[in-house]
Amino acid sequence: METPSVRARAHPSLALAKYWGKAREGTNIPATPSVAVTLRAMTTNTTVRVQPCADAGGEDDSVEIGGVVQDTRRFRPLFDEVRRYARTRSYPGVPCFSVLSENDFPTAAGLASSAAGFAALAAACLAAVSDGPEPTTISRIARIGSGSACRSVYGGFTRWDAGAESAFQIRDEDWWPDFRIVILPVTAGAKPVSSREGMNRTRDTSPYYRAWTEDAPLLARETQQAIETRDLERLGTAARLSYLRMFATMFAAEPPLVYWLPQTVEIIRELEQMRDRGIPVWETMDAGPQVKVLTDRDHARLVVETFGEILSLPAIISEPGPGTSVERL
Ligand code: PMV
Repeated sequence: METPSVRARAHPSLALAKYWGKAREGTNIPATPSVAVTLRAMTTNTTVRVQPCADAGGEDDSVEIGGVVQDTRRFRPLFDEVRRYARTRSYPGVPCFSVLSENDFPTAAGLASSAAGFAALAAACLAAVSDGPEPTTISRIARIGSGSACRSVYGGFTRWDAGAESAFQIRDEDWWPDFRIVILPVTAGAKPVSSREGMNRTRDTSPYYRAWTEDAPLLARETQQAIETRDLERLGTAARLSYLRMFATMFAAEPPLVYWLPQTVEIIRELEQMRDRGIPVWETMDAGPQVKVLTDRDHARLVVETFGEILSLPAIISEPGPGTSVERL
């Protein structure tokens, strides 16, 4: 017995107030609240075919990303959770999954491919074993693959609370038509330390970790209010504090986590001077050297022109985008 395939589309989730630190190991329950925007300009397309497992243990799942066969261990907890869900929905037998996934942007270069990837994977697998799964269920199960993926399930502006199993939407993708995010990839290389390892090291060794988790809720609230009032300067100011405080905890870890490259600092300095000249540009960063600039429709091209020369890959201009969508083939 073979059922038809399901295709899901998802976009990365860029945190404006950062998630950094797990309250519980293993299941990606966050120690800090995060507030994010879903990015329309970058897309993951994932096709899932489901068939009965040859053995009840679900050993015959397979995953290919951009034509490269993956070790399925990273995906197993998510597949197992979908199998548990399938049982509660009276799905006949034990489903196994064959997955083909493609990103239209570089994978694992700190461009949040895991958020879009796991959101699309959860949406496709759940739709393959049930009719119309709730977004909360998709978000909860996407989180098991990668924390930030639980926010990618929703479009526009999202929030994921400390201790929460799933994210929710604050405002949809049409809320702030003038808002733009410019992604500046300073390297095409993969990040040296995964966010999972980086978070654990920070929690276990950084003397500033506790202060970071205590302060994060205040910055998340400030970030959310800036979104709700469409106040770019207030948003940019809060987002800068959030990423810089996150990095301050990482710099103090042992051994220290330093994701930045010379071009990263060059961009940060130049943006400072642009703000001094009254240009609305504020940066944010994640667990890698890439810089993402928060600006408006009128200044996005200027950012690309200013930094085009020092980038390793072309800059990407994005507006807020939709959440995951699913299509039965
Ligand atoms: O959930 P992960 O493993 O993609 O970690 C995300 C960590 C940051 O990108 C640094 C912050 C965030 O909230 O997305």
